[in-house]
Amino acid sequence: MSPLATPVTFARSGKVAPTATLKSAMTERLCTYDQDNLDERGKPTPEYEHLYKVWGEGKIGVIVLGNIPIDREGLEAKKNAIIDARSPWDPVAAFKPVIAAAKAHGSLVIGQLTHGGRQVSEEVTKTPVSSSDLQCPPLGGMTFAKPRPLTVPEIDGLVKAWGYGAKVLYEAGADGAQMHSAHGYLLSQFLSGRVNQRTDDYGGSLENRFRIVKRVVEEMRRQVPDEKFILSIKINSADFSDGGLTLEESRQVCIWLDEMGLDLIELSGGTYESMAFEHKKESTKAREGYFVEFSEAIRPHIKTAKLAVTGGFRSKKAMDDAIEKGVTDIIGLARPLTAEPHLIRDMIDGKTQAARDSKMPPPLSTGASIMQIGNMSRGEPIADLNDEKVVQEIVAALTGQAPEKKQGQETSSYEKSENKL
Ligand SMILES: Cc1cc2nc3c(=O)[nH]c(=O)nc-3n(C[C@H](O)[C@H](O)[C@H](O)COP(=O)(O)O)c2cc1C
Repeated sequence: MSPLATPVTFARSGKVAPTATLKSAMTERLCTYDQDNLDERGKPTPEYEHLYKVWGEGKIGVIVLGNIPIDREGLEAKKNAIIDARSPWDPVAAFKPVIAAAKAHGSLVIGQLTHGGRQVSEEVTKTPVSSSDLQCPPLGGMTFAKPRPLTVPEIDGLVKAWGYGAKVLYEAGADGAQMHSAHGYLLSQFLSGRVNQRTDDYGGSLENRFRIVKRVVEEMRRQVPDEKFILSIKINSADFSDGGLTLEESRQVCIWLDEMGLDLIELSGGTYESMAFEHKKESTKAREGYFVEFSEAIRPHIKTAKLAVTGGFRSKKAMDDAIEKGVTDIIGLARPLTAEPHLIRDMIDGKTQAARDSKMPPPLSTGASIMQIGNMSRGEPIADLNDEKVVQEIVAALTGQAPEKKQGQETSSYEKSENKL
């Protein structure tokens, strides 16, 4: 059996992932949204459920639901799924069918609980909160208002909200919850020695910057005392920005979390200010994974938790090698699974050896994946990013420019689909 196809048992919960793979969290933007009526935000839809039915068929070891804000104003984007105790609808009933669809063929399912903090766009809120008042610079057409530092009572409230999110996921049938502490979102804004300029118990030393994360873990366990429920974190192996979380700090945080009983630590990297979903070093290109060197530096220090590393993996050989050589226990994948939702199953069944190439320019690859998610959710053919013509059309749609059409050029399947932004 190839390393990728080998089941992984989590030590604390005893849960078994059927393969050594993880579908990393990806924002779906398929839930309800109303600008003015917060009650109407974040409710799962049939399209959101259908998406997870498709991924559920793909022999994925662990399926992580895309980021779920625990505050109706702390959104990563409009149409996020949300779990917030103030919403009048029943979140357990709303998430249950989605989780059941994802679990139908044996995958474990965990929900990623998040708060955007200073990375909530101005379109969603003019009054964001953060660890401090350092404003996030504009990115890809989005602008961000200057944040206000959270007060300690507000931190207490958010800690409880994270715990409530875990409880809802548990009652809705999920196998676990993942705190999103990567990519510059709120928990990452506390961990960063640059963004976090607090002088109270939540700022300064690494121990203080870690305090909110520690409290979230404790609260999730308090609200879900069942040891069989997986607690997980997605964390930056480094922020890649001056003064941001370093590898050494990330390693120390992972050691603390392992000691606290987390079952799964997923490593990533970068923030909105310093995107890291590309190769920072030529030396790691052959091994594909962007963060393999970081994982190698962290893994020997982790005693019980399983490690997943996400970003850059495209061929079965690189994935098998990373597991065999002890870089990681689990391979995380994101963009390849929006192009080919059953890629892992096809690799394990020997039908393919690598993800299809993408001709999408890297800065637009997230937008293109969101479009593919839209295709999947509606049962449409998935836009082929290996087709130059389709790529031109998507680039045009994402950048607001009409594609150049040569005389007699055929209409592509993407153009025929309804999936325009
Ligand atoms: C469309 C899209 C949405 C994403 N949304 C999230 C998210 O909600 N939470 C998260 O932790 N990472 C998110 N990411 C990052 C991915 O989980 C992953 O870390 C990154 O894409 C690198 O993996 P890859 O090279 O396999 O795509 C997203 C990525 C994409 C492409």
